[in-house]
Amino acid sequence: MKKYKPYDWTLLEDLIVYNTNSKITSNIFDNQNSELCVEIGCGNGHFLTDKALNNPEKNYIGIEIKIGRIVRCIEKKVKNNLKNIKYINNEANFALDFMFEDDSIDLIYMTFPDPWPKRRHHKNRLFSEKFLDSVFKKMKYGGLFVFITDHEEYFKYSSDILIKDIRFEKIERISSNAELSNSLFGEKWKKENRKFYTMEFKKR
Ligand SMILES: C[S@@+](CC[C@H](N)C(=O)[O-])C[C@H]1O[C@@H](n2cnc3c(N)ncnc32)[C@H](O)[C@@H]1O
Repeated sequence: MKKYKPYDWTLLEDLIVYNTNSKITSNIFDNQNSELCVEIGCGNGHFLTDKALNNPEKNYIGIEIKIGRIVRCIEKKVKNNLKNIKYINNEANFALDFMFEDDSIDLIYMTFPDPWPKRRHHKNRLFSEKFLDSVFKKMKYGGLFVFITDHEEYFKYSSDILIKDIRFEKIERISSNAELSNSLFGEKWKKENRKFYTMEFKKR
């Protein structure tokens, strides 16, 4: 049986917690005027840790609903002594709507979201009209949203929602597959030679 490293729950003291009096902007970081980049459903933090290491001039926040995965994210932050990355352990819609300041986010990544393939489970999908309302409200003008999945039907479902939303402009891709698939699930699907589907769009 595979042995898992025990969780050090004291690391959770590092989390950003919900505070009715104070909304998140880049001001919560040492570099207060830097770009704020957010990953929705950041899993164990592979992708975001790499981004924070390679772009020390930018600030990163990962949102993840599973508490064990958040502990793994913070372990990586501590190990690499990263000051430009913080985590939220909450539901992504809640975190976006109630924890962030309006017009505060420069870039949102959604890497390999759960596709919920069965029709009766589509209601659980993160990408929705309502989700785009929150993205629109919280992103700065010109802010970028980057989406990658290995699930063709979920990609079509999401891009159909996006195309109808005139508040966003679909743009030519800036990020490469190699860059975006540098996550736990991305690496897993690469080994299975799965095809990736991506889209990038800007807030008008
Ligand atoms: C398929 S995994 C991908 C993880 C990571 N992005 C990667 O590429 O390796 C999807 C992640 O999204 C998280 N997640 C799913 N629904 C969520 C929600 N509503 N709010 C926050 N996180 C969520 C899951 O717990 C899981 O860690």
